[in-house]
Amino acid sequence: MRAPAIVPSLSPLLLSLSPHKMFQVLSLALLACSARAQYTATYLPSDTPAQSETGQEGTNQCGTGYNQTSLCQNAYINSVQDFCVWAPPAGGNSTIANTEEIEVSWCTNTGYGTRLIPDGTITGAHFVQTPDYVQVTGVGNFTFMNIPVGDEGGELDPHGATGNGNPIGGLVFGSTFGSLQQYHEWTNFMSNTEFCFRACKDSATAPTMCNHIYDVMGCDWNMPANYAAGSFDNCLADSAQPMGVYGTSTFAQGQSVTPSAGTIPASSSCTSFSTISNGIVSIPTSTTSSTMQTAAPSIAAAHASGGTTSRNSGQPTATGTSNAAVGITAHAGRTWEGVAGGVGVAFVASLVGALFVL
Ligand SMILES: *[C@@H]1O[C@H](CO)[C@@H](O)[C@H](O)[C@H]1NC(C)=O
Ligand SMILES: *[C@@H]1O[C@H](CO)[C@@H](O)[C@H](O)[C@H]1NC(C)=O
Ligand SMILES: *[C@@H]1O[C@H](CO)[C@@H](O)[C@H](O)[C@H]1NC(C)=O
Repeated sequence: MRAPAIVPSLSPLLLSLSPHKMFQVLSLALLACSARAQYTATYLPSDTPAQSETGQEGTNQCGTGYNQTSLCQNAYINSVQDFCVWAPPAGGNSTIANTEEIEVSWCTNTGYGTRLIPDGTITGAHFVQTPDYVQVTGVGNFTFMNIPVGDEGGELDPHGATGNGNPIGGLVFGSTFGSLQQYHEWTNFMSNTEFCFRACKDSATAPTMCNHIYDVMGCDWNMPANYAAGSFDNCLADSAQPMGVYGTSTFAQGQSVTPSAGTIPASSSCTSFSTISNGIVSIPTSTTSSTMQTAAPSIAAAHASGGTTSRNSGQPTATGTSNAAVGITAHAGRTWEGVAGGVGVAFVASLVGALFVL
């Protein structure tokens, strides 16, 4: 947010340019602006502030290792063996609708300073890389991550009612399209039995490919994909039609007739795995005398606080086969909030960039 200070020093510079040059500068700046207008900042995990938004409950400075009480709000999406989802930091009356602003990152792998998704929680997951986005979809029992039994869930995204994201300050990263980068546009639906997470490559179409205005429609409608239990894979795939777009018409949530979900885009080059596992934290093993009713994950090793340990070491295949591919029909009433606040800053930054180019 230091950019505005540049403005006074910029104007004499601009005025000293010939009208033609000035036109070039402004056009270039506008071009740059249109691509970046909606982003107030771009981070890597190594350069985030402790908190990237005001009102943030957790942190973006997460360290390494893992920690089952971590309040890390950095998520990653790289493959079926390396991804995170958002879920509540604590149990209780912790439906997604109640906790969307404060959710924390739960990952398949140690190393990011987040919580680990307990082995056995996810019973089927499917990663696709398309030209426009990466996506992981699947099923499991997310009561092991504080989502109450029967919670039909809700939708998390980088904007939210406040414009600061649900969760507030949540950041998403990945390295599928080159070196590690922030994905500014993403959408993640969570319920107690199903999840889907799409992160879009920064581009002019990212806001539509990762649209998150259809927050009562659930995974199957927003992200038609493979939700099968009992299998895990990485595939390449075509990009889906943007959610809500049917040829030349666009559906508005709440219209009396809801169109059916789009078709599942073709996929190819799949690699399958029998399971995913971190080998460190597991769901509680159910004993014959079911005295244990809590959903607290058992921790098979001391909290790691540094370095990376086993990544998806071989573990027995999870036996759960719940395949409740139900739609999510949670909280209505939230609307997408623009992020026009960043436009001014981005414009000035682009202007400065354009001056350097010339
Ligand atoms: C785990 O995270 C909690 C909450 O952020 C913090 O208080 C605690 O010190 C962390 N533990 C380790 C071992 O890093
Ligand atoms: C759970 O949260 C909802 C929404 O905030 C509230 O209406 C309800 O009373 C809460 N239930 C309990 C048992 O606290
Ligand atoms: C999910 O796990 C809980 C224990 O935390 C159990 O009570 C419930 O039956 C499980 N749900 C399914 C669909 O397997």
